[in-house]
Amino acid sequence: MALENKLGLTSSADLAREEERISKKKAVSLFEKGLLDQLEAGTFSSLQFIHKYLFEDIYDFAGELRTVNIAKGNFRFAPVMYLEAALSNIEKMPQSTFDEIIEKYVEMNIAHPFREGNGRSTRIWLDLLLKAELHQVVDWSRVDKEDYLLAMERSPIRDTEIKHILKNALTDEIDSRDVYMKGIDHSYYYEGYTAFKAEEL
Ligand SMILES: Nc1ncnc2c1ncn2[C@@H]1O[C@H](COP(=O)(O)OP(=O)(O)OP(=O)(O)O)[C@@H](O)[C@H]1O
Ligand SMILES: [Mg+2]
Repeated sequence: MALENKLGLTSSADLAREEERISKKKAVSLFEKGLLDQLEAGTFSSLQFIHKYLFEDIYDFAGELRTVNIAKGNFRFAPVMYLEAALSNIEKMPQSTFDEIIEKYVEMNIAHPFREGNGRSTRIWLDLLLKAELHQVVDWSRVDKEDYLLAMERSPIRDTEIKHILKNALTDEIDSRDVYMKGIDHSYYYEGYTAFKAEEL
């Protein structure tokens, strides 16, 4: 039932609980140790570092590209076969305006490079980009979870909704740990929404 994990947990509820506890702790230390400030905004290697850091105690695949094709709902994320090419194209996308940054975020979500934990790591990666380029971040506590998910589901076809939602939640509080942690809290994973888990194809 549960994804294979280093904790030896077999129930997905147990895994969800432990994952929440551990990844939140790791997110705090990622912030407190100043590690985020050393990352280059907009690169895949930064996202990889974030994912590895959050999940290395839980999954062997932390920071590693997925090796299976996955889908959520009707949407199939990038096929494994094209993943590396997609990531190298995404990395080259411009990132100097708000619209460009969100377009890049949307493409990174379509790539969905990791087997699990893309949402949490990519929201931190997005904040890094917004902070570096615009000196703003998203205050995720001002983003309704359901609106966000609907907008992300829609984003491969039309990105105006997600742009609108995120633009309205921008804040200048770029150094606040509380604001940063809202991106991690902003997770469906922790609410036992197992229906939102990606399906292996
Ligand atoms: N149907 C969909 N189409 C496109 N993108 C989707 C769809 N459903 C979810 N997403 C995106 O995938 C993310 C979740 O990916 P994943 O489960 O790998 O990460 P997570 O960290 O476990 O989840 P969460 O974002 O809830 O914290 C969501 O945040 C959303 O951006
Ligand atoms: Mg998930």
